[in-house]
Amino acid sequence: MVFSSIIIDMSRLDDIVSLSKRRGFIFPGSDVYGGMAGTWDYGPLGVMLKRKLMSEWWQYFVEERDDMYGIDAAIIMNPRTWVASGHTTTFSDPLVECGDCHGRFRADKLGKTADGHDLSAKVTKTELNKAKVKCPTCGKSNWGEVKQFNMMFKTSVGAVEDATALAYLRPETAQGIFTNYKNVVDTIYPDLPFGLAQQGKAFRNEISPRDFIFRSREFEQMEIEYFVSPDEWEESFEHWLKACHEFLEKRIGLPSDCIHELDVPAEDRAHYSKRTIDIEFDYPIGREELMGLAYRTDFDLGNIQRESGKSMEYRRKDSGATFIPHVIEPSFGVERLFMAVLSSAYDEDEVGGEKRIVMRLPEHLAPYRFCVSPLLKNKPELVKKAQKVYQDLKAKYHNVTWDDSGNIGKRYRKQDEIGTPKCIVIDFDTLEDDTVTVRDRDTTKQKRIKIADL
Ligand code: GAP
Repeated sequence: MVFSSIIIDMSRLDDIVSLSKRRGFIFPGSDVYGGMAGTWDYGPLGVMLKRKLMSEWWQYFVEERDDMYGIDAAIIMNPRTWVASGHTTTFSDPLVECGDCHGRFRADKLGKTADGHDLSAKVTKTELNKAKVKCPTCGKSNWGEVKQFNMMFKTSVGAVEDATALAYLRPETAQGIFTNYKNVVDTIYPDLPFGLAQQGKAFRNEISPRDFIFRSREFEQMEIEYFVSPDEWEESFEHWLKACHEFLEKRIGLPSDCIHELDVPAEDRAHYSKRTIDIEFDYPIGREELMGLAYRTDFDLGNIQRESGKSMEYRRKDSGATFIPHVIEPSFGVERLFMAVLSSAYDEDEVGGEKRIVMRLPEHLAPYRFCVSPLLKNKPELVKKAQKVYQDLKAKYHNVTWDDSGNIGKRYRKQDEIGTPKCIVIDFDTLEDDTVTVRDRDTTKQKRIKIADL
């Protein structure tokens, strides 16, 4: 099943945030202490959905292919990693301070230029003041110099806090792959082209975290570095672009008319990229980047070779030719995928004259496939029978839930909100003829089915 192709209502973000908290998908990070900007915690339902998305990705991009291998590298890496990769010098966003209220903002996200264009990452103090771009906090237009702010989180390693112990939390999972490229080549001898995949946390000290989980300071990436011979990069780039579309549309089921490609112009590309296509999605906040596909050339392996003094060359088994492979990188953010899924699934309709919220999640992604309930919880014979059905389904499908709270109408509303496709109710007829009521989330229609046929 895939999501039906719906026009996504742009005003839905607040509803999605509120449902996420109310039903245990996502809570604000450190909520009990008033929060921690840019961090979010996944609750019981959110963890189930997130894991399904991540394992669907792993299955599609790693397990079903012959040319892909996985790795799981450390988050804290030797700081030379970030010198070689260019992150210590170039991984920054433009930061500007309001001369009146002293609020600090990401300069390129403050509005438009005087002639109506988006502000670029190279925007200056003069441009901001000339365009009378307003401070989001105090409304004045009195901007200071725009400075580059490095987004890597610093930490120190060991029982000392001096400069020699300085380390960073990784801002991308990619470098854990590049630094292991030679280990993999020397241990499993893969034929080129081949790829390495990794899923894991990444950290960026975003100047303005915003839009729910969309721009967080701690988030999860799913990245592939695909190593090719330099003359094959274009072909491989096309292959991965197609594969990314297929994953998003066929495996996750996102509506294809909400997915768009942006060929990123040279001045907006990351420092390592010679070509980038961003796959954008129509989120409730507008059309924004869901993932990126980049041609990273031999930038990373070349830099590692220089910094470490160790050869990163690949020797072809057939011709004996040696060269540094080039790299195609499909890079997904789990939070961006999660938010695309939630915003595609969220729907409101009317049932029996009452407004209903329903998460139309595809069956393979829904946290629970079935909910089992006794019609009345104070009738031991119904509870006993319902428990038997529940235990049998649970043994077979695992993600089955039990609900005997409130009345049956309330249970349906709750299961609709968490996206459970089918509710199974055990009533007095069940005791007579071994049939149950199966109620469908999307149509709300009910059918009588034999337990043996469930
Ligand atoms: N290794 C390449 C790389 O990290 P990127 O475009 O900076 O490229 C890749 O990030 C993906 O990571 C993005 O397309 C997005 O899905 C996700 N991402 C980046 N910054 C994020 C943030 N602050 N919050 C949530 N997801 C983020």
